[in-house]
Amino acid sequence: MSSATVDDQLLVSLGNDLTLLFATPLLRRQMPGAESINPGLRTAILARAAAEPGVRISNKGGWQSKADLLDWPQQEVATLKGWIVEAVRAMAALSPDLRGRAPGTSVFKAYGWANINRTHDYNLLHVHPDSHWSGVYYVDAGDAVAGGAIQFNDPRPMARAMPVPGFNFDRALTVAPASGLMLLFPSWLEHWVMPYDGTRERISIAFNCTLR
Ligand SMILES: [Fe+2]
Repeated sequence: MSSATVDDQLLVSLGNDLTLLFATPLLRRQMPGAESINPGLRTAILARAAAEPGVRISNKGGWQSKADLLDWPQQEVATLKGWIVEAVRAMAALSPDLRGRAPGTSVFKAYGWANINRTHDYNLLHVHPDSHWSGVYYVDAGDAVAGGAIQFNDPRPMARAMPVPGFNFDRALTVAPASGLMLLFPSWLEHWVMPYDGTRERISIAFNCTLR
């Protein structure tokens, strides 16, 4: 286990003598130009769902594609891959270690899969093993205010064992889906997807990244 240095960006200084330790980075980026790729992604994903049985991992109900989505031939997929690279780059910039490397020396591999959640479908609490950074991109958030939010649990188990009055350390963070929104977070961060109450398909693309 390595120890933190004073320039570690994961120590969040509050500008006085208080510091937030063990900060967990979460990227939330509403992608400009999302409306130019979402219709094509939606069509491609629905076509696959009609042709392939789908796989079952964390999903309860719904349809999940094979994990080959980033190899699909559509131009929209190529655009999304570029956005994933940018997101991982923004995350890597938090690390003094990675920031100091020469351009092109940090390489990562990624793979992705599509999720279609229909009425009452949800995803169980899970992490993404054997990966470093995980993310989701919302192709179509479905019907507005209809559930289907992603919720991240506080990863500090002792916070649950010893509640501190006035400090809700053990709370969960809920992010409402929005078409064109990209999230990126450490793969060890536990999350689940709440049941979807809408009628139009809620379509997302999840991905895993491994840095070499
Ligand atoms: Fe996940």
